[in-house]
Amino acid sequence: MPVLLMQALKQAIDTPNSMNASKVIGMNPAGRTDRNNTMPASDIIAEFVLPTQELRDDLPFFTKTLGMRLENIFPADDPSVASFSGHGLRVRLEKGADVPAGKLRILTDRPETFAGGARHLTAPNGTRVEIVPLTPSVVQPATQHEFVVRRLRDEAPWIIGRAGMHYRDLIESRLGGSIIASHIRIPDGGPVPDMVHYHTVGFQLIFCYKGWVDVYYEDQGDDPIRLHAGDCVTQPPGIRHRVLHASPDIEVIEIGVPAEHITTIDHEFTLPNGRGDPSREWDGQTFVHHVKETANWTPFRLPGFTSCDTGVASGTKGVAGIQVVRAEADTCPANRHDADIHFTFVMEGSMTLTAEGQEPRQLEAGDAFVIPPNMVTQYVACSQDLELLEVALRGDFKTEILAD
Ligand SMILES: [Fe+2]
Repeated sequence: MPVLLMQALKQAIDTPNSMNASKVIGMNPAGRTDRNNTMPASDIIAEFVLPTQELRDDLPFFTKTLGMRLENIFPADDPSVASFSGHGLRVRLEKGADVPAGKLRILTDRPETFAGGARHLTAPNGTRVEIVPLTPSVVQPATQHEFVVRRLRDEAPWIIGRAGMHYRDLIESRLGGSIIASHIRIPDGGPVPDMVHYHTVGFQLIFCYKGWVDVYYEDQGDDPIRLHAGDCVTQPPGIRHRVLHASPDIEVIEIGVPAEHITTIDHEFTLPNGRGDPSREWDGQTFVHHVKETANWTPFRLPGFTSCDTGVASGTKGVAGIQVVRAEADTCPANRHDADIHFTFVMEGSMTLTAEGQEPRQLEAGDAFVIPPNMVTQYVACSQDLELLEVALRGDFKTEILAD
């Protein structure tokens, strides 16, 4: 038996950690471990082809360092091809293969137990390996404060996204990645081809601006929740949900914090899942469902306006506050706030926004603006039908009313 083949077989037998363990807990031909032996074996296997210059150099790296299992190796007299499986992956190293060396991402929540705790490795064949967390976490960038006015009539055409959805970015800069505010519409409506999924976010709001949409939410009963115009829900971090159906011409305002977050498909979870625990908390946040019909209108933080609180500040323990605001006077006093993020969407009517150091901006339905903390602003020339959606993070911010 050639020396290299003998070495390879010995290395495979000596392979530490996960691969020896995999023989105990079961492994299908694709190399996917299955502690319950419930994963059906497949008669189709996919392999990534990687190059190798000297198989003898790469063998110990893939078996011992990465803990993969040697599956086959040939030819016997001078091995130049070998396949390895492990961590849900199968790779085939071919001597002289005209393919890039590539990069592998190893996902684990215990990186200190893998490859001696290294986070970046390079195999002898040039394949780079990165060890990263398995469970996504929220990384909230620092807010880059900016005065933003986004007018519907000034904007480029809507971006056509997946499933016939049209998107309009309401905060183009995203304030340094701290927030995304999207105006979404589905002209055709109808069934929405969605899967049970969840988002790794700090805060997420779905506000139904026009039309209606049916959505299943985890632990919220057997019936879908129908959001009508003026209704909203928060989607706490990790809550499973699935969109079912939307009316024609539905329009939604979606707020996500931070701007970039991971969406995970949960193939094991089915919805509806019954009543569950509607008061449950996900990362300290309850599911908030605000219904316009039952809204309670009270004086707004700014004199001359009335508002209804959506309950979001309470449900998120102050992470965010969402108000629907209506004008009762045509102006309010100059004021400033101390919220980190203060975003407003004009839902109905018109107004003029004055802000220190800025030209007055005439706004109408579909427009949006961001007021940075401590900037003096004033809402003037408000139409009687003016209706605003106000989003603040945190929700328990303070407002200073300034004397005329
Ligand atoms: Fe979603």
